[in-house]
Amino acid sequence: MLSIKGLSKQFKLKHQNVMAVDDVSIDINKGEIYGVIGYSGAGKSTFVRLINRLEDPSSGEVLLNGQDLTKLKQGKLRQERQKIGMIFQHFNLLWSRTVYENIAFPLEIAGTPKQEREDKVNELIDLVGLKGREKSYPSQLSGGQKQRVGIARALANDPGVLLCDEATSALDPETTDDILDLLVDINEKLQLTIILITHEMHVIQKICHRVAVMEQGKVVEQGDVLDVFVKPQAKTTKRFVQQLSPLEHQREHLEQFLNGRDDSQVLKLHFIGGHAKKALISELSKKLDIEVNILQGSISPTQEGAYGTLYVEVNGAPDLIEQAVEYAKGSGVEVEVLKHD
Ligand SMILES: Nc1ncnc2c1ncn2[C@@H]1O[C@H](COP(=O)(O)OP(=O)(O)OP(=O)(O)O)[C@@H](O)[C@H]1O
Ligand SMILES: [Mg+2]
Repeated sequence: MLSIKGLSKQFKLKHQNVMAVDDVSIDINKGEIYGVIGYSGAGKSTFVRLINRLEDPSSGEVLLNGQDLTKLKQGKLRQERQKIGMIFQHFNLLWSRTVYENIAFPLEIAGTPKQEREDKVNELIDLVGLKGREKSYPSQLSGGQKQRVGIARALANDPGVLLCDEATSALDPETTDDILDLLVDINEKLQLTIILITHEMHVIQKICHRVAVMEQGKVVEQGDVLDVFVKPQAKTTKRFVQQLSPLEHQREHLEQFLNGRDDSQVLKLHFIGGHAKKALISELSKKLDIEVNILQGSISPTQEGAYGTLYVEVNGAPDLIEQAVEYAKGSGVEVEVLKHD
């Protein structure tokens, strides 16, 4: 329902041109939480600003329910923009207005009648969990509460899409989790499509269904969160996945652990969803004349189900180890053989 085709933005500076967004194409389904991750300067903010045309693209299309937003003239654009809400890292609230007045603001601009406006604001205050704080000013709120005001305000005109640009980056880990839970709640209750920009992989892991990885304006990888976590392809993606998996840092030690041992191999096994992990290990040692030692393991939850990583050391004749790898692969488990010097 939101289809981005060949979207590019070049900033022309005095001495050089910057290709902030470079030929990006992404299709986002209705009701999906779509994450965009990348390091600083990758073009993430420019990308979301192109979606609601806070920035005009150099080329490409942004089709919202079939309508190309990049072609709209001012009046019509203002109207269509109401279908896209946005929240920001530093909340962008009006400091001289109360919580209630901040949330009412977009409704005033849209010319919503008074009674309807009041009902809507009260409904939103309930939704984001700010009951009792209506008369507070932003300066009297915690970061998490400020972002709740930001979210309520963004939802005032019933948008179909919510853009979140680093919406939790100014918050502590616990508050981040609360706000992410709220976003999931809203996503499910309102069938709201959410595009979430972040540089933190755990944010993607916790709430996104799909993810795109951006680097130098380009999308270098995109797909289901679970697939990307289990089989990251691009170098940048691998680095992001490592942020989350303390085990990845131990890889080197594991590889060293192997040095000089011909009869031993370390395998990294990925279990997705409900694959029978215990059974596989015992089957391997029963069926083949090898010994399997579990070195390390972890389980990571995602929106689309959990995946587990297990490092095992296999001791035995090389051809038996090879058979073990094939057997594991055949049982639906991803297997990676660690480098052997
Ligand atoms: N208005 C502008 N004029 C010129 N260059 C810009 C402008 N806005 C962004 N850029 C450049 O475009 C590139 C992408 O910037 P952008 O802010 O989109 O990155 P980002 O991924 O959001 O980074 P961060 O994680 O730091 O927020 C950068 O090189 C930046 O300097
Ligand atoms: Mg940014």
